[in-house]
Amino acid sequence: MNLQGARITWLGHATVLVQTAKGTNILIDPFIAGNPKYPKDFVLPAKIHYILLTHGHSDHISDALPVAAKHNSTVVAIYELAAYMAEKGVAHTIGMAVGGTMQLDDVAATMVEAIHSSSVQDEQGTHYVGIAAGFVLTITDGPVLYHAGDTAVFSDMKLIRELYRPEVAMLPIGGHFTMGPVEAAMAVRFLEPKIVLPLHFGTFPPLTGTPDQLAALVDAGVQVVRLAPGESI
Ligand code: NI
Ligand code: MN
Repeated sequence: MNLQGARITWLGHATVLVQTAKGTNILIDPFIAGNPKYPKDFVLPAKIHYILLTHGHSDHISDALPVAAKHNSTVVAIYELAAYMAEKGVAHTIGMAVGGTMQLDDVAATMVEAIHSSSVQDEQGTHYVGIAAGFVLTITDGPVLYHAGDTAVFSDMKLIRELYRPEVAMLPIGGHFTMGPVEAAMAVRFLEPKIVLPLHFGTFPPLTGTPDQLAALVDAGVQVVRLAPGESI
């Protein structure tokens, strides 16, 4: 499939780097130091313009602060999580909420529903940081991408298809905390993407779903890509 110059790099778990043809670099759910599947020799681009966080769990935000500090990135998250990150020392944050769209240079980032929980745990205890979400990224002169975050399947994924028509769906498939392959196959039927990039599997022993299991359950016309961490489409 032609991504019109955009590049999507899987960095293990739910961590994804999106680079547009115009040069905007977006890192979603940075989980680096503690991520056993992160490609350790991978070098991030010189500038990460935006960090998008789907929810507050540590396997999605644990490296947001160091990356934002190094790259002077703007962290985009649901209002309460953005406020938490600002409190922790992130200089530039954008708080938004489900249903809204923020124009991030050549990328329109729409926050969409996810069925999951969200909280941050730190030395002070457990904090409410809003609800879990996903993102649809509509790239000017480029493809439409959907990163589902951590979620169960839900029938309003049909609404995401109807409103935004994502060509690439990045879906959790590991099970236990999110959809497994059976549920993700239903999500694919609702979303009708051309390409599926499986996320959130194999990182830890309970996340047993595999891309092969998903591929066996979806129409032959849908491409389930199997990237090694650090590889791109
Ligand atoms: Ni989670
Ligand atoms: Mn997770």
